[in-house]
Amino acid sequence: MLEDAKNNLVKNGFLNIPVEKDLNLFEEIKKLKKEKNAVILAHYYQIPAIQDIADYIGDSLGLSQQAAATDADIIMFCGVHFMAETAKMLSPNKKVLLPDLNAGCSLANSAPADIFSLFKMKYPDHVVVSYVNSSAELKTLTDICCTSSNAEHIINSIPEDKGIIFAPDRNLGAYLMKKTGRKMVLWHGVCQVHEMFSWEKIMESLKDHPGAEFIAHPECEPHVLEIADFIGSTTQLLNYVKKSPKSDFIVATEPGILYKMQKEAPGKNIYPAPPSTQCACNECPFMKMNTLEKVYLALKYELPEVTLEPHIISEGRKCIDKMLEISAKAGL
Ligand code: 13P
Ligand code: SF4
Repeated sequence: MLEDAKNNLVKNGFLNIPVEKDLNLFEEIKKLKKEKNAVILAHYYQIPAIQDIADYIGDSLGLSQQAAATDADIIMFCGVHFMAETAKMLSPNKKVLLPDLNAGCSLANSAPADIFSLFKMKYPDHVVVSYVNSSAELKTLTDICCTSSNAEHIINSIPEDKGIIFAPDRNLGAYLMKKTGRKMVLWHGVCQVHEMFSWEKIMESLKDHPGAEFIAHPECEPHVLEIADFIGSTTQLLNYVKKSPKSDFIVATEPGILYKMQKEAPGKNIYPAPPSTQCACNECPFMKMNTLEKVYLALKYELPEVTLEPHIISEGRKCIDKMLEISAKAGL
């Protein structure tokens, strides 16, 4: 009865329960974390308040590695749905919570598994490499998963005489073809956030900040990547800013990472790359659905929970295990 009542509260994808105004959410979350042996994993694109309460902040690869290794009973995943699904596949016996089940991803949504399986049938001898930004169902149709941190390495690990299907990000796929010299069949999905950057406005910004370096995530469009001084995953971009002798950077990825960059590289000037319109469309609307209140409620009621059918877990995790194995061998 109580379980039914609790589940009814998540009807719209999150717990819409009023929270006392004066409640110190930081302290309450800390208490709940300890009481329930929970770990908070957060992506760099999360709002600063969530980054401040997280036990670990990282990119998709780092978050998967943490999810696989944790001895916590509950994983509070502050990111988007495919990330929480990946955590569930890697730690099936743990309870995985997502503050808002509506936190999807345009890339993951662009490759529905039923249509992808028809596409895959056209290339029966090909190895399927899927970016981790994909649904659990798509992962069941995938041979090796990858993230932006290890994608180049994963492609290079495939024998040269093998054809490759790469899904779902066409921009990352095109970038990898250029880097590795491998021809691949691409699925044509895009990240709505990384497609928003304006080449013209980035050039103007470089004029306004003489000497600045332009760094970009490989989900950006090819003509944007063409003018980048450095291309890498979110963790690689962060490390680049920390290590570079330069002082000014224009960064083309979701601007949530600027908070961490500014913290870890104080004294450096970091500017978000401008989008093509006046809107804040280079903010990921899915990542920004998570709030401190939702994290508090999710931990308190242990809802909403991300669950997967056992066969999806056993089939879907094979490509993730393969990715982690190749990454570990390469020391990534
Ligand atoms: P990484 O975390 O691998 O850099 O990817 C960024 C991203 O778009 C996550 O959704
Ligand atoms: Fe998906 Fe793009 Fe948002 Fe990442 S930034 S979660 S790829 S929509």
